[in-house]
Amino acid sequence: MLKAITPAEFTANPFTAFDRNWALISAAKPDGTANTMTASWGALGTVWNSPAATVYIRESRFTKEFVDSSETFSVSFPDGETYRADMALLGRVSGRDGNKLAQTSLTFASFDGVPYIAESKLVLICKKMSATPITPDGFCTDEPASNYDGGNYHTMYIGKVEKILVEV
Ligand SMILES: Cc1cc2nc3c(=O)[nH]c(=O)nc-3n(C[C@H](O)[C@H](O)[C@H](O)COP(=O)(O)O)c2cc1C
Repeated sequence: MLKAITPAEFTANPFTAFDRNWALISAAKPDGTANTMTASWGALGTVWNSPAATVYIRESRFTKEFVDSSETFSVSFPDGETYRADMALLGRVSGRDGNKLAQTSLTFASFDGVPYIAESKLVLICKKMSATPITPDGFCTDEPASNYDGGNYHTMYIGKVEKILVEV
């Protein structure tokens, strides 16, 4: 069961939450279909005076179509140890090729019409504030370019965190 907390009550470590635990980014199209994908890049903090979650989605991802066509998305954190194999599958298989969530023990729930992963210990319900394609002209070191040998650049999505849900 999940309960809402405020940003001031938030205690998770954003570095380990993305990089070690992994997240699932979910969104729905206007026709009600939803998709989710694993993400280990992300940031939490304050943007434009709002609590914000930033995620990075490559052009090729089916999930990008869903986030682009929606005003909202969610960032869900199931327990990374318990659900490692499921999250690996959701980060390897594309929703273009069938209902990949049905191949896992994870399921969608909905908060105000925003799909999220029900089995999560932490969920961020976000309103999309910006979608900015990452382009090489903004790179200041060699490090960013080393992630784009084959193009397929990320778009950076900044979401206003409208609800934080934690497992009780
Ligand atoms: C651990 C892990 C982290 C990932 N992080 C990201 C990420 O931050 N951004 C991204 O675009 N893809 C990331 N991916 C790749 C997508 O999850 C993967 O391509 C997925 O199959 C896309 O599914 P979709 O086509 O249904 O959207 C990651 C994959 C794994 C396994």
